[in-house]
Amino acid sequence: MVDGTPDEREWVDPPESFVAQANVTAADRDAFRAAGWPECWRRAADLLEWDRGFDAVLDGGASAGTDDEGSIRWFPGGRLNAAHNCVDRHVEAGRGDETAVAWEGKLGETRTYTYRELHDEVNAFAAALRELGVGEGDVVTLYLPMIPELPVAMLACARIGAPHSVVFAGFSADALATRLSGAESEFLVTCDGYYRRGAALDLKRRADNACVSVSHSVEQVVVNRLDDGRPAGDCHAYADLVDDHAGATVEPVARESDDLLFLIYTSGTTGEPTLVRHTTGGYLTHVAWTSHAVLDLGPDDTHWCSADVGWITGHSYAVYGPLALGATTVLYEGTPDHPETDRLWEIIERNDVDVFYTAPTSIRAFMKWGEEHPARHDLSSLRLLGSVGEPIDETAWHWYRDHVGDGDCPVVDTWWQTETGGIVLSTLPGADRMRPGAVGKSLPGVETAVVDETGRHADDGEAGQLVVTRPWPGMARSLCEESGWGARRTRRVDGEWQYATGDNAVRDADGYLHLLGRADDVVKVSDRRLSTAEIESAIVGVEGVAEAAVVVGADDEAAHRSEIHAFVSPESNVAGDDALRERVGRAVEEAIGSIAVPDVVTFAPSLPKTRSGKVVRRYLAAIANGEELGDTSALRNPEVVGELESLLDR
Ligand code: WTA
Repeated sequence: MVDGTPDEREWVDPPESFVAQANVTAADRDAFRAAGWPECWRRAADLLEWDRGFDAVLDGGASAGTDDEGSIRWFPGGRLNAAHNCVDRHVEAGRGDETAVAWEGKLGETRTYTYRELHDEVNAFAAALRELGVGEGDVVTLYLPMIPELPVAMLACARIGAPHSVVFAGFSADALATRLSGAESEFLVTCDGYYRRGAALDLKRRADNACVSVSHSVEQVVVNRLDDGRPAGDCHAYADLVDDHAGATVEPVARESDDLLFLIYTSGTTGEPTLVRHTTGGYLTHVAWTSHAVLDLGPDDTHWCSADVGWITGHSYAVYGPLALGATTVLYEGTPDHPETDRLWEIIERNDVDVFYTAPTSIRAFMKWGEEHPARHDLSSLRLLGSVGEPIDETAWHWYRDHVGDGDCPVVDTWWQTETGGIVLSTLPGADRMRPGAVGKSLPGVETAVVDETGRHADDGEAGQLVVTRPWPGMARSLCEESGWGARRTRRVDGEWQYATGDNAVRDADGYLHLLGRADDVVKVSDRRLSTAEIESAIVGVEGVAEAAVVVGADDEAAHRSEIHAFVSPESNVAGDDALRERVGRAVEEAIGSIAVPDVVTFAPSLPKTRSGKVVRRYLAAIANGEELGDTSALRNPEVVGELESLLDR
């Protein structure tokens, strides 16, 4: 427990050999800070090539520290193109033969794209998209698994100024339809399935179902990996389009700094997915700088961020960040335990990966599988390890460093969110001491605080909500435009601008932050962000269900993820039986996808509620995890807790 006394906690220093080669040393960090906020971000923006220099670093009320609630704009007046920054400029610098993307397929096959090859395919596909009618500002939905065509398509969109909206390939037809509609996207790029042969048509069928269920018309559909090379029905084959436009050159569109680069949906606190929009200049600056300063990447590095590109982590640190810096990015289509539990270590060894960035849920799985698996491989290419997505506890931190990092790689725990675009809390591996179990401080140029409900700053050792108190370049555009607490999540407290992250945290006496989990109804299952409200709304839509509450339980070893536990109360004349259980599972699979299907469904006569009628999920989570409940006397129906415990036999 963090109580503000520093003496018993451990410090780990980064090895001198790492510090000596680091992109950002303590002196660099201090110089960045000394430039002052927001001017310091000018240095970060220098990592990019701008077609037109910006007139100011930041524009908007928040920059003046006044009560003005006007909108915030990063790098106003600046123009740039993300595809030029991630591809062309590296080719122009004579690095065309170096590897941009190293892809590892599910079935053991590999493919690499040099920067020149990436350039050529991005140009060909950009030309094809234009011919299909995609113009600047049109949203292109990309519903693709982890194949190289996904970053190619993202960059092709960026090249012509068409914001992309990547939809995780594990989502259902309904989830895709919601995202197509929400973005009014008339263009869809998908593929026929995950496998070349066999039951490969699944993704395309889901895409077709989504297209017919949206109210607007999806004008053009591009399909990759058709078995017979020809599109079935009214769509275009990706390979044909790229062949037809081979050799085409499309001039990158110079975008205004705060023009949209992409949209991404995430799980918020409501039953509906939340749309988050990211800008070109601010976002790209933020991910390039954090890739440089936190992930210590440069053009000679091979980086592997194991997150799916369908989530923000993959956008920022598998695609835009590493490519903006001219590094090699590894993309892996498969799972960590197939064909063997040493698959990841084999990929790191074969690709000489320098920096590996993964989630604690995976690290916990590696620990269970045993240290002999990484030990069988030569992982000496690794220089730095990163963690993201959930708190990493001290045991996992040490295991990761000892057994993957050979005891001397720095480990950076990085905290951020879809809304922040890129990392905002972390140590800088070349400058800061590490504290296992703590994420570190705010990055230079970012300011955060822990506050109580009224927005008052908490004392060290006192838990509260983590807020960001100054704008940062990677902030979602939605946050730039909005003010007011509640759904919009920014407010002013005594003149201080605050963005509520939804996470609880506590700061120790050394200023290091410890994350305590979400304060709202967003849950992390593996490294995926889901909303309990979204799952519940699918369940209560099932005939015969009166009420439902969803909580996250312990890690499920076999599934390598935390269990989703649904407490369902059927209508009075309906039996809580296997048939209803199956209907519940199917409803969630249809509404969201199999990733959200509850692992455990417990039928309950009623759910524990406060006197005002609010379901107390805290008790349900404790019941699901077999933990002590404490005092339940504030409940309107305390007896239900005992009933639930006996149902679960705990
Ligand atoms: C959680 C993923 C503790 C947090 C980048 C946040 C973390 C949510 C950490 C965002 C970390 C992310 N320590 N918790 N290092 N990193 N989180 O939008 O609850 O998928 O609010 O972004 O993940 O999830 P999202």
